Amino acid sequence: MNTTDSSQLEGDIYLPAPAITANAHIQEYDNLYQRSIADPQGFWADRANELEWFKKWDQVLDDSNPPFYQWFVGGRTNIVYNAIDRHLKTWRKNKLALIWEGEPGDVRTFSYFALNREVCKFSNVLRSMGVKQGDIVTIYMPRIPEQVIAMLACAKIGASHSVVYGGFSVEALAERIQDAQSRVLITADGGWLRGKTVALKQIADEAIARQATIESVIVIKRTGQEVRMEAGRDYWYHDLMALPIANPFCCTDELDAEHPLFVLYTSGTTGRPKGILHTHGGYMVYTYTTLKYVFDIKDDDRYWCAADPGWITGHSYIVYAPLLNGATMFLYEGAPSYPYPNRWWQMVEKYGITILYTAPTAIRGLMRFGDAWAKRHDLSSLRLLGSVGEPINPEAWRWYYSVIGRERCPIMDTWWQTETGGFMISPLPITPLKPGSATRPLFGIEADVVNDQGQPVPAGEEGYLVIKKPWPGMLRTILKDPERYKTQYWSKFGNMYLAGDSARKDKDGYIWVIGRIDDVIKVSGYRLGTAEVESALVSHPAVAEAAAIGLPHDLKGHAIYTYVILRAGHEKSEKLAEELRNHVAHEMGPIAKPEQITFMDSLPKTRSGKIMRRVLKARALGMPEGDISTLEE
Ligand code: WTA
Repeated sequence: MNTTDSSQLEGDIYLPAPAITANAHIQEYDNLYQRSIADPQGFWADRANELEWFKKWDQVLDDSNPPFYQWFVGGRTNIVYNAIDRHLKTWRKNKLALIWEGEPGDVRTFSYFALNREVCKFSNVLRSMGVKQGDIVTIYMPRIPEQVIAMLACAKIGASHSVVYGGFSVEALAERIQDAQSRVLITADGGWLRGKTVALKQIADEAIARQATIESVIVIKRTGQEVRMEAGRDYWYHDLMALPIANPFCCTDELDAEHPLFVLYTSGTTGRPKGILHTHGGYMVYTYTTLKYVFDIKDDDRYWCAADPGWITGHSYIVYAPLLNGATMFLYEGAPSYPYPNRWWQMVEKYGITILYTAPTAIRGLMRFGDAWAKRHDLSSLRLLGSVGEPINPEAWRWYYSVIGRERCPIMDTWWQTETGGFMISPLPITPLKPGSATRPLFGIEADVVNDQGQPVPAGEEGYLVIKKPWPGMLRTILKDPERYKTQYWSKFGNMYLAGDSARKDKDGYIWVIGRIDDVIKVSGYRLGTAEVESALVSHPAVAEAAAIGLPHDLKGHAIYTYVILRAGHEKSEKLAEELRNHVAHEMGPIAKPEQITFMDSLPKTRSGKIMRRVLKARALGMPEGDISTLEE
């Protein structure tokens, strides 16, 4: 039973169907939430005890040096041990871990047994190439099983992975390789997208030419397109996996709970992307628990998270959490509407998908093709739906709920971030839903909305979204920049985690996330920084100065608009604008391609020379410019 009396709730309420809630792992929210907040360490210790440890922890939380919190201190584990090895001792050994469909329609499946074999072999290959604990291996791949295998193989031997999204391009990749000082890059000849191949290897070659740290490149043959292989540096994956060193037996390294698992670069307020660092123990316990509770994972589920492993959603909820829960997951390589807008619905029907987790932008994108494409498919296998990446607009919510979920499947609108490791604010299958609200914080999470002084704001008022206590899945630091970690997240309010989002809390305690309050733009759910787009623009010889802002966009949520001052000797023209847009796509990736370039003679700046993006935004939207007292003459 749900203890929240839904008749007392305000607004547009959707109650979950009894068939969904009857067998849910979690049957009650309020009491369990109160207990988890009263004793978070006890709560997390119980969750950690559901998994296996080589050695149990001495201390659940070490908070002696805030904000450098440590979890399960003294514990020895390896996330791969819990994600794979432990299932091999049970009937799940022969259960499907992964079903994969390529865009051209090719299908591959892996049982836990088979996945383990591939991971072991590749771990041995990596070891033989000198990869060891403490190294950071960069992975730049399409959505194919080898991407998952490569990540797990690194973790198994205590190396960290840094996955760079396959939609990023030359400079974005080069910068991330450089920051991580990676010596090994794992990539592919290409991948399939909308019936065409993406030239990943060629982009990788260009990136390596800019950054000299890479010594070896492992290339998966996916598309068979012509690629250049440099002797002594580049190796085919299938050649390496056929060598005797690719032995199918490999011990999983016993690691400290706080041993680094991965670095994932994400955009922040200023400058270069930040390497967000997560560790084995806490991240493992957190992602395992949140997926189990929110998507109510059961052994007979076929779970599909339609994100890319190159983003945090994919790290946590394609790769690690489903395997930690012994689930069967589905992965699809290509575009949602290829060759027709029913591709996704066709696959839901074909594979009997029970849980579908995606982003509002994808829902809006498919919604515009009308209901008929979904209606001709039997989607009755679906049990739960999910949304992530940006606030979901009520129209998209209702379409998702009625046309895809056929009014049977509740929508888990999960609010979280690269930094948080896993879901923070989210409904459970038992939660009465309000379209557009991520509802309430999960167990052990003290979320609030506060004003500039750090005081909770009254119901209905906008404020900063903060988390008041540490949690196991939290980032540990920013790679090589602990100071930035401190100032960015923990300095504004003393000892509260600043998410960088604004939000409102309603009378029922439901949280409504409004959006970013910094210079992060969410384009189709992808997180991009204005600074990165600007630096891509000024790397073009014609550009003297540039400013980027995000403006609302029907499909993408937000789109990038840029303002450019040209260098002397360059003429404004449509042709040059197009060239600049393509230049950004080449440097950063197609996702960062500006919607529009506006040539300017000057940019609004403060007297100290900082571009006032707020003013540009207000002008573009025809809104009041606000306080412009600091604007330069
Ligand atoms: C936004 C993605 C509203 C938010 C997992 C956050 C959301 C940023 C939601 C993190 C949601 C994510 N409702 N906004 N359900 N989920 N966001 O690091 O602005 O790529 O700060 O992590 O996405 O983006 P990131």
